[in-house]
Amino acid sequence: MNESATIKVWDPLLRLFHWSLVVSFAIAYLTGDEEGELHVLSGYVVSGLIAFRILWGIVGPRHARFSDFVTGPGKVVAYLRSLAGGKPQHYLGHNPAGGYMVIALLIALAVTCYSGLAAYGAEGHGPLADGTSLPIASAYADEDNEGMENDHEGMEGGESAWEEIHETAANLTLALVFLHIAGVFVSSRLHRENLVRAMITGRKNKS
Ligand code: HEM
Ligand code: HEM
Repeated sequence: MNESATIKVWDPLLRLFHWSLVVSFAIAYLTGDEEGELHVLSGYVVSGLIAFRILWGIVGPRHARFSDFVTGPGKVVAYLRSLAGGKPQHYLGHNPAGGYMVIALLIALAVTCYSGLAAYGAEGHGPLADGTSLPIASAYADEDNEGMENDHEGMEGGESAWEEIHETAANLTLALVFLHIAGVFVSSRLHRENLVRAMITGRKNKS
């Protein structure tokens, strides 16, 4: 592509973040049922990436910042109208609808990671092993086994509440990921711009 018709939009760290997230999320999702070391490791990697992205959303370069793409609902409506009218407004960074998808993905991933850490903590492992997780699961805690053992009978152990939340959050995140990928392909078509390539090279069309 002609370099002068394009402009640098996504910085290298943001791109590294994205593709590392794709790989680590896929590994975490596929190893969830095994509960092995690989699951915990990939879960930690996802957690670290999300922490980085939140920081980058505050101190990162222009198009990485939340202030660049988190807009009021009015802009989202205007953008969707322009899509429906066949003349989509062009944004260099995330468009207003895409911006909300980014936030939804980050929240879903954060809830998945936190509940995973809490479930792991309830089994006596990891940073939340000392019972410092949010007391959300203690409502279900079974005093006799003090929530340290999972008897796999409904919601009796304190940890099983976190497991349920973790599993639901993981599946909800996966559903958002599918919507996200569909959104990327639909807007690539509408804008006649290869957004996947843009997330690899960092460059987008100027107009
Ligand atoms: C985005 C990242 C993550 C994804 C997509 C994910 C996904 C999953 C899935 C699909 C399961 C299987 C649930 C089931 O069928 O019972 C699971 C279980 C589990 N995950 Fe994660 N997870 C993630 C992060 C983490 C983290 C950070 C930890 C903590 C170190 C963790 C700890 C666990 C544990 C302990 C289980 C077993 C729960 C049980 O006993 O059923 N996960 N995870
Ligand atoms: C192979 C499948 C995927 C493709 C092709 C893809 C593609 C893209 C593209 C093109 C963008 C930029 C959107 C724009 O131009 O506004 C983007 C952003 C994003 N994607 Fe994906 N994606 C994939 C999988 C995932 C997965 C699995 C996750 C999370 C688990 C994810 C999370 C995100 C996030 C958080 C952003 C926002 C980037 C930022 O500003 O930090 N993506 N993706």
